[in-house]
Amino acid sequence: MMGMLGCVLMSLLVMVADGFVVHGSSGPLVAPLGSSVVLPCYVDKLSSMKGLEVEWRRADSNALVHLFLDGESRPESQEPDYQDRAHFFTDQIQHGNFSLRLDNLTAEDEGRYTCRVYSQEDSGEVLVQLKHERFLVLGSDRSVSAYDGEDVTLNCSLDSHVSLEDVEVSWTRTDGGILVLLFQDNQTFSDSVDEQYRDRAEFFTAEISKGNFSLRLKSVRIEDKGVYMCQVSAGVLSANVTVELEQLGFSSWHIAVLFFCIAAGLAAVLLLVSLIWCRMNNAAGSISKKVCDLQLSLVFCPNICMFLAFMLWGFTEASLNETITCCALYILRPFMLIWAMPYLNYLQGNLKAWIKFFKITRELAIFTVVFYSALFAHGWRLRAHDASIVPRVAMGISFGVIVLLCLLLSRGFKNKILHLILISCLSVCQMSQLMFTFGFSSLGNT
Ligand SMILES: *[C@@H]1O[C@H](CO)[C@@H](O)[C@H](O)[C@H]1NC(C)=O
Ligand SMILES: *[C@@H]1O[C@H](CO)[C@@H](O)[C@H](O)[C@H]1NC(C)=O
Ligand SMILES: *[C@@H]1O[C@H](CO)[C@@H](O)[C@H](O)[C@H]1NC(C)=O
Repeated sequence: MMGMLGCVLMSLLVMVADGFVVHGSSGPLVAPLGSSVVLPCYVDKLSSMKGLEVEWRRADSNALVHLFLDGESRPESQEPDYQDRAHFFTDQIQHGNFSLRLDNLTAEDEGRYTCRVYSQEDSGEVLVQLKHERFLVLGSDRSVSAYDGEDVTLNCSLDSHVSLEDVEVSWTRTDGGILVLLFQDNQTFSDSVDEQYRDRAEFFTAEISKGNFSLRLKSVRIEDKGVYMCQVSAGVLSANVTVELEQLGFSSWHIAVLFFCIAAGLAAVLLLVSLIWCRMNNAAGSISKKVCDLQLSLVFCPNICMFLAFMLWGFTEASLNETITCCALYILRPFMLIWAMPYLNYLQGNLKAWIKFFKITRELAIFTVVFYSALFAHGWRLRAHDASIVPRVAMGISFGVIVLLCLLLSRGFKNKILHLILISCLSVCQMSQLMFTFGFSSLGNT
């Protein structure tokens, strides 16, 4: 008995509630600044105007936007800001249409509005969201400067009504159009980014939802200096800002590099002058131990300084391939110079053994191995995203053969023809490694 009564009561309640559903708009309303916009609010069926009260308020501040009470609208109770700007369609109210027209839209009008309807039987409310149409990209006016190795932030934030799924953001270098970072389909893409910026450029992930697409560039290098553009687009809308990254001052690493370069130059000049002076004071034809030492220092010191300078340069700029190659060149150069010297017979002990070891073919072999291992590492990274592993395997094989041939070559052969064959094979392998590293991408695309 009780259960049945409950059921009847329940269905009565549902019926009453069913009769009074207030409708608004399904999504946010968007309108340009200065225009008029209709905020919808209506009920399907209004049984009676008696005791009807309609109240439009800002949901955030609760400010009264407009009021309909006792059969008429009440402009006197409106917030001053909305007087003369917000209107009911008075002839529509009897049909249950309580929509509000808001004129001369301002940026402050953006927000959520509640439409509350009270009648004798029931009440209900609906929330309407209003946004003004805009697509503004803000950056910073001033250029950004940093010391080498520091992290920098380049500002770019979007102020818009557009939802983030539709937004595409690209950070590029305006000089050369290098892609630095890309945001598309609500994701960050770093694969298509230029090698120079891979793993060094990122968004502030937590800030993206706020439309903040500022770029963080980690461990800035000299080559990063330039003008960066943040271009934001959504459909036909598009806007951009540019930021200049200028570099100030050298880091201590750079000062050290500079120091070694100057030391190399100074050492070369001083040693050369003393050598000339000593030789002038020397009896013609004879070579003293002093002259010999000076000559050796002239060969070694500047080259070792340059070797250190390039090594430090590699640390700061991380351009590994150039660094390794230059280092190898500078560390091998003294041996080559001395080997070519007519004083080989004057050398003593260990040094003589070393110089003899580094004869020209060995030097070529070592330099080739160093250069091609740097190239191999570079190619391996370049091909990391290829679908097929064939180029990588081929690169590995040709590199392996190059190392093998260099080992054979450094052993030295009396047989001239064998020597020639080895060198030809080496050239072929070098060609094929170059092909696999750089050439096949263009072939693969056609
Ligand atoms: C309410 O009235 C306004 C103004 O005439 C109109 O634009 C709107 O479509 C009406 N809404 C409904 C649900 O009839
Ligand atoms: C965007 O985020 C960065 C990093 O948190 C911050 O420095 C910058 O001020 C933010 N920009 C805006 C407009 O909020
Ligand atoms: C960047 O915006 C300016 C206007 O602010 C426009 O003239 C220029 O064409 C835009 N550049 C690009 C590459 O879209």
